[in-house]
Amino acid sequence: MGLFFRQKKLTPQAWGLEVDAYGKLIAGGCSSVQLAEEYGTPLHVVNELRLASTTADFLSAFTEAYPGKVSVHYAFKCNPVPGVIEVVKNAGMKAEVMTEFELFLALRLGFTGQEIVVNGPFKPESFLAACIENEVRFVIADSLQELKTLNQLAESFGKKMDVLLRINPNFTPKGMNNGTATGSRRGCAFGLDLEGGEAAEVLSLLPKLQNLRFNGFHFHIGTGIRHPDDYRLALSRLKGLVGHARKLRLELRVMDVGGGFAAPLTREMTTWEMLAYQAFDRLPAMKRWDADSQFAGFAVAVTEGLREIFNGENWPELIVEPGRSITSANQMLLLSAHQVKDRPGAKNWLTTDGGIGTVTMPTFYEFHEIFLCNDVNRPREKRLTINGPGCFAADVVYRNLLMPDVNPGEVLAVMDSGAYFTSWESSFGHPRPAVVSVANGTSRLLRHRETFEEMLSRDEFTDMRNRQGKTPAIAGA
Ligand SMILES: Cc1ncc(COP(=O)(O)O)c(C=O)c1O
Repeated sequence: MGLFFRQKKLTPQAWGLEVDAYGKLIAGGCSSVQLAEEYGTPLHVVNELRLASTTADFLSAFTEAYPGKVSVHYAFKCNPVPGVIEVVKNAGMKAEVMTEFELFLALRLGFTGQEIVVNGPFKPESFLAACIENEVRFVIADSLQELKTLNQLAESFGKKMDVLLRINPNFTPKGMNNGTATGSRRGCAFGLDLEGGEAAEVLSLLPKLQNLRFNGFHFHIGTGIRHPDDYRLALSRLKGLVGHARKLRLELRVMDVGGGFAAPLTREMTTWEMLAYQAFDRLPAMKRWDADSQFAGFAVAVTEGLREIFNGENWPELIVEPGRSITSANQMLLLSAHQVKDRPGAKNWLTTDGGIGTVTMPTFYEFHEIFLCNDVNRPREKRLTINGPGCFAADVVYRNLLMPDVNPGEVLAVMDSGAYFTSWESSFGHPRPAVVSVANGTSRLLRHRETFEEMLSRDEFTDMRNRQGKTPAIAGA
């Protein structure tokens, strides 16, 4: 598969960035330092052309490898910034949503119902009703209870709904923790239990649910999966169930293998790495993996898995739902260094305007490269604990990370902020950051920094005079 581990330190070029003659980090032809000055920090910077080409590469890898029809649905939860989704949509992907809000967003962005598949372990009646009204392509059912509710609702709308069944195949991808793998019985409640017989039982009950049309199966076995063969192995677990469906004369038109394809330049810490980090207070070095032709490797493994089930005949339509592999490496987060506190024998603290309490939640459990934007080549000679603006001890980006000596006012780039950063962010006393896209030397605002008034916009005031009150004269409001 062309995968092997290596320890080599990566340069910004691995993310499609450049370093100019003065050692400054350049993204999409724009100076990261100037972007920080112009828009303020924290700031997400989306590398727009690279995002579009990653999307196109994913699509072509799967359509080239798979003999049947392929539909690729981008997982909104991964990065729900509308300007980001627009780039992915224009490059050819459809939508995978898992909440009522995400369905609203998909429709708002011009996806038709037939371009949307709906997942999620929590689909209240209002959500299912919205799926029916908007005629989404598939509701991917998580339980028998959900199927029954959908059936009843469909009847009341006088419609038939197309469904896939989410299966829990009790499969944990290599290197992943049983306790968190989304296709493991012990780790997750998601889907119909294959091993306990629930999935087969539900198949037998389907003919009674006359307002539903069964189309096939779905699984989503985890995230950050680096070994393509895991998809083939997970598919092989479904063989018996496919046979059972055939016996019941249920036609299998669609197989959906979910998302989870690793991003090339970051990954979650393993349980051991996390334990070592907590025990020794030092982030272990990240062993990298070679990302050459990674999409092709996944596409071939999925195709093999389906060939083994369908014997190379009557290929079902293949649905894939990538998230992080598309957006992760094409976005970075700029943070400004605020103050430095060197404490010999303890820690060297660098306070920035972002930490896990507000904007860097994934640095709690993932490895992310960090560059000094104004002097990329400054030697890394100092252990720094980068903390955020929150007033709690855990609000750090990383502890004891080998970094250059950073001065107040300098700007850091946290790489791979394209996946699960904007989804996790919170305004813990601070406005949420702006998002800009860069391409060909120009920048474009995709989302403005939250204003103080926007932070109050949902609130009712006991004394309504305060609601209409004058905005206080505070810079940044
Ligand atoms: C059902 C489903 N599909 C797709 C995805 C996207 O996963 P990833 O970002 O790892 O590709 C997720 C993520 O949680 C998911 O739950």
